[in-house]
Amino acid sequence: LHIVHIAAEMAPVAKVGGLGDVVSGLSKSLQRRGHLVEIVLPKYDCLQYDQISGLKALDVAIESFFDGQLFKNNIWVGIVEGLPVFFIEPQHPSMFFHRGSFYGEYDDFKRFSFFSRAALELLYQAGKKPDIIHCHDWQTAFVAPLYWDIYAAKGFNSARICFTCHNFEYQGAAHVSELSSCGLDIQRLDRPDRMQDNLASDRINPLKGAIVFSNIVTTVSPTYAQEVLTPECGRGLHGTLTIHSKKFVGVLNGIDTDSWNPSTDIVLPVQYSADDLQGKAENKDGLRRHLGLSSKKAFQPLVCCITRLVPQKGVHLIRHAIYQTMELGGQFVLLGASPIPHIQTEFEGLASHFKNHPDARLILKYDEALSRLIYAASDMFIIPSLFEPCGLTQMIAMRYGSVPIVRRTGGLNDSVFDVDDETIPVQFRNGFSFSKPDEQELNNALKRAFDYYTRNPENWRKLVQNIMRLDFSWDSSAQQYEELYEKAVIKARAAAN
Ligand code: ADP
Ligand code: GLC
Repeated sequence: LHIVHIAAEMAPVAKVGGLGDVVSGLSKSLQRRGHLVEIVLPKYDCLQYDQISGLKALDVAIESFFDGQLFKNNIWVGIVEGLPVFFIEPQHPSMFFHRGSFYGEYDDFKRFSFFSRAALELLYQAGKKPDIIHCHDWQTAFVAPLYWDIYAAKGFNSARICFTCHNFEYQGAAHVSELSSCGLDIQRLDRPDRMQDNLASDRINPLKGAIVFSNIVTTVSPTYAQEVLTPECGRGLHGTLTIHSKKFVGVLNGIDTDSWNPSTDIVLPVQYSADDLQGKAENKDGLRRHLGLSSKKAFQPLVCCITRLVPQKGVHLIRHAIYQTMELGGQFVLLGASPIPHIQTEFEGLASHFKNHPDARLILKYDEALSRLIYAASDMFIIPSLFEPCGLTQMIAMRYGSVPIVRRTGGLNDSVFDVDDETIPVQFRNGFSFSKPDEQELNNALKRAFDYYTRNPENWRKLVQNIMRLDFSWDSSAQQYEELYEKAVIKARAAAN
């Protein structure tokens, strides 16, 4: 198949969170399975340019429609992680992608509706005939209605649209008047069964539009796919999803096991594997020295957390876990950053409080290299999310031999199985989990993990080896996507005949 991903993130060149990992991991896996995979991204000024090879501008620019006019877009191509990527650089006075950051701008609706239109225009003008256009999150949700309403009428209709929602919290809703800028027809789309927001009728909801107009709609774990069908988790879209439930499915993400591999990870001072854990202990010593933590607790658990500090992640429980870990005699390292000023300020206060503390360190920035050192050094990894569509950090942690302690929600529920849960076959049990998002439940899970660690080091070592050998690669998830794509393509061909 010819598959084109249109997205706002792709690791490692443009990564804010898991979306970036998924776009590159899934694409690489599909490419390995023999498909032609291409990716379209905005040409942000803050791309990691050193990770793109052979970047060059194409001779011809593409003109795309916005606010009643045509704007030029320079098109750049380059290779990222072995994948061909097209980067769109709009020549628009608002300099949409020269902002020094990926998201969070006052005009994100404009920036990404412009990008969605330009991406389709690129495929159309380049004469591409993809079988599948796969879009991700609200930033590229405009593609589905644009494709069927504008491009299919021009004869560009070879593709079926697959849309993956990575988080129903972010829907991109804006005042209805904003919709027409990219050429979508307000009269046609501002209806309860199309793009009108279910919670505010003067708003237009791109995410809803993608659900209505895509051929395949997925989210990133089976449990989250069930949860969002309820009023508590669907953020106003549970009704729309229920109506479209026949094309809606949860596919658990994988991780890129080439990139996340402790036996080849060149960032680590010492590589290691499940067969030889000595290197893991050395990395733990190394991190402790690097961060200035006391060596008195060398044989106590090092508990870590790497996260965006947003309410979804259970920030109050993360804060509580720092104190509780020390209460139990362990050490704690947090690597996180928050896009929300009051949370960032609160954690900066905590970080300075623990600045010279022997047993806790908070590092408040985005730092991929440091994240690798932390995954490798840690014994336990805590994820007390209030909700979690999939979560990748528990999978990466396990790959590096750090035992996850998680709240049972979304994808955490589909990937972490409690060592004490007798309803689960022993060979699948791989961590500690708790149900309610409260301090007491977290304390119990953490305590059980500490007991397990200290009571029988041999059992702990076996647990670490088991989780490192689990298969969290993209193979089976990419196969599920491939099956969904193929079904949609076959259906389309049957309808055409
Ligand atoms: P989300 O996408 O909701 O942030 P995921 O668990 O799916 O959560 O993915 C998070 C990704 O971002 C992981 O690859 C994780 O290692 C990375 N990450 C999160 N915070 C940081 C940070 N402060 N520094 C480096 N990497 C981070
Ligand atoms: C979102 C979700 C996270 C998921 C990631 C990749 O950011 O918050 O749970 O793992 O997307 O799908």
